[in-house]
Amino acid sequence: MSRQHLNDAQSVQQLQAQLVHRLRAAGLDSPLPEARALLTHVLRLDWAGLVLAAERSVTPAEAEQLEGLTLRRLAREPLQHLLGRVEWGGVTLHVSPATLIPRPETEGLLALALKSLEGRAALAAPAVLDVGTGTGALALGLKAARPEAQVTASDLSPEALALAGHNAAANGLEVAFVLADLLEGVAGSFDLIVSNPPYLPDADRLEAQPEVKYDPDMALYSGPDGLKLARRLVVQAAGRLNVGGTLLLELDPRNVGLLAAEMRLANWTVQTHADLSGRERFLWASRLEW
Ligand SMILES: C[S@@+](CC[C@H](N)C(=O)[O-])C[C@H]1O[C@@H](n2cnc3c(N)ncnc32)[C@H](O)[C@@H]1O
Repeated sequence: MSRQHLNDAQSVQQLQAQLVHRLRAAGLDSPLPEARALLTHVLRLDWAGLVLAAERSVTPAEAEQLEGLTLRRLAREPLQHLLGRVEWGGVTLHVSPATLIPRPETEGLLALALKSLEGRAALAAPAVLDVGTGTGALALGLKAARPEAQVTASDLSPEALALAGHNAAANGLEVAFVLADLLEGVAGSFDLIVSNPPYLPDADRLEAQPEVKYDPDMALYSGPDGLKLARRLVVQAAGRLNVGGTLLLELDPRNVGLLAAEMRLANWTVQTHADLSGRERFLWASRLEW
């Protein structure tokens, strides 16, 4: 936006139209929802408030703030980083460059985790571990839905754990956080171990979308085929599940069949589950013998 634009008093509606045009011209997929999200953030309005404010003038300070955010978005910084938070799995999560922005498909893993606990209704306070918790997404989504669960969450990144702790407090949820390399250093055994570990093959780094470059590498990549950490986690989890316990993993759909086959050879019973776009992405496993 030019200085001239900043000095002219524009209506919310005019500014929204310009913003949609600029985001579309930059090749972004969802220009209207993104424009609305930026406007509601800057103007401190909800969706209905934005609609009702269509005719009102935007102040120079608001226009300047919006312009700063727009330039960052045009440079492909993720929208969630500009807004600072996401609504995910029934909780509000602050996000930062310390860890992955929780993805919508991971809500499918949360749904499977809740289903697995429903099947264990006899457990008064199921012990749950979220490995590689990041923002705390899975741990907090679970604790919000099943307050009686004893939820532990681990991560190898101190910065991610600090963010997850902040998110727990902001949502008023009690979760135990542990700085640990997968299960090394995490005490106890669990009725459910759930994880969305880094799972992309290292070579994917070369073709990553611009937005993905804002996620830290340690949240994304896991060796030549993407299974380095998941394989280690499976071996560790085998000795840490309570009788009847479940291991739930999100993986790259290219790898789900491969890891499922390897686990079956190692005495696991395994089912795979599709995400909302129909790609097998989740692995539900338990031990054949305890
Ligand atoms: C794909 S992100 C998932 C974050 C979050 N669970 C979610 O679903 O949005 C993977 C997380 O695993 C963490 N991580 C990477 N290596 C790890 C390790 N060896 N042990 C524990 N956590 C690890 C990263 O710091 C990151 O927060």
